[in-house]
Amino acid sequence: MATKVIAVTNQKGGVGKTTTTANLGFALANLGRDVLLIDFDSQASLTNYLNVGIKEDDSYYGIYEMCVREFRTVRPDEDEFLASCDVSTDEGFARLCERCICRPTYSLRKAQTEDGKKSMVTVSREFGFDLLPSHLNLSDYELEISSLRGNARSSNGFRLYNTIRKIINWHPYDYILIDCNPSLGVMAMNAIIAATDGIIIPTNLDLMSTRGVSNLINKVVDVQEMLLSATNGQIKHMGVIGIVLNLYSERRTVDQTIQSDLKRFYPFEIFKSTIPESVNAKKALFAGVLYSQMYGRADKAYADLAKEVEDSLDRMQSEGQKIYRIDENRSMEDDMTEGDVFNGFEE
Ligand SMILES: Nc1ncnc2c1ncn2[C@@H]1O[C@H](COP(=O)(O)OP(=O)(O)OP(=O)(O)O)[C@@H](O)[C@H]1O
Ligand SMILES: [Mg+2]
Repeated sequence: MATKVIAVTNQKGGVGKTTTTANLGFALANLGRDVLLIDFDSQASLTNYLNVGIKEDDSYYGIYEMCVREFRTVRPDEDEFLASCDVSTDEGFARLCERCICRPTYSLRKAQTEDGKKSMVTVSREFGFDLLPSHLNLSDYELEISSLRGNARSSNGFRLYNTIRKIINWHPYDYILIDCNPSLGVMAMNAIIAATDGIIIPTNLDLMSTRGVSNLINKVVDVQEMLLSATNGQIKHMGVIGIVLNLYSERRTVDQTIQSDLKRFYPFEIFKSTIPESVNAKKALFAGVLYSQMYGRADKAYADLAKEVEDSLDRMQSEGQKIYRIDENRSMEDDMTEGDVFNGFEE
């Protein structure tokens, strides 16, 4: 199977991008897929969720070191290892990948019996996917590429795209999922361009979050059109794969109403599998495990989501590229029938 590169993005903060990336990656790995997660956010939440970079002395290389070699040379006095990697050769790039990409783990308490005595031991287990971590220094990437001039500047949008193509050449993963920062700036655009197999948009069910989705979708359409004209149709971007409803409660009728309004309004998959709102999502962070490992209902939701994502990708592949621009003058509220969510306000 050819590698599918997918960005998990929404310019709104705190809607579950990182939680979706980690748990969907885990569910895909549980289906036997070979998965790489890329933390493309200088907050490094995904990196920390996966127990990397927690301790102060935990020094590691990551996406910044990988991308920086894509657009400038590194001096030996700056970083001896990076300067020594000749990334124009497969061997040099492989050394860089081996240093930057890690296999994250979590800890588990396990009962054991030795010499007839029972005791509890802490053992380490792999989540089952690879991680290209991030660090606060990723914010330098945005500054550094923004300060480039001329031709170097014009290919800024393709920095992550180029790096990911080389990673695929080094190791043909089944899936590469990119966790984006909450913006529509240079970083998020780099991720959207790189994710030619499509975008997954997690959202929660409030009006402010759902309103922003149309702007994001039209940015993806801009990227689809830009790629077609810049590459003479060589690079086709598949657009939006679907919208994941996070922090969903079956007991809140307004959530079901917004879900059906979204289905009516957007010509994309609104995934049937909704992610339940539960305190276990936060508890999992303290325990250093994933939400789906902590809570059976979340586990089922992400397993179903992974299957839906695979089905959507297959369908998109067979139907070919589609481009849908959303009329931003039309809002979802205009389409709501009376009594849907808000029935008018009387003084
Ligand atoms: N389904 C859920 N139920 C309860 N809490 C959740 C759920 N999903 C995410 N959270 C919590 O909401 C917070 C934000 O989630 P997350 O970090 O995934 O959002 P994000 O969109 O990546 O944020 P940012 O925009 O800052 O990158 C976290 O504390 C997370 O544990
Ligand atoms: Mg995040």
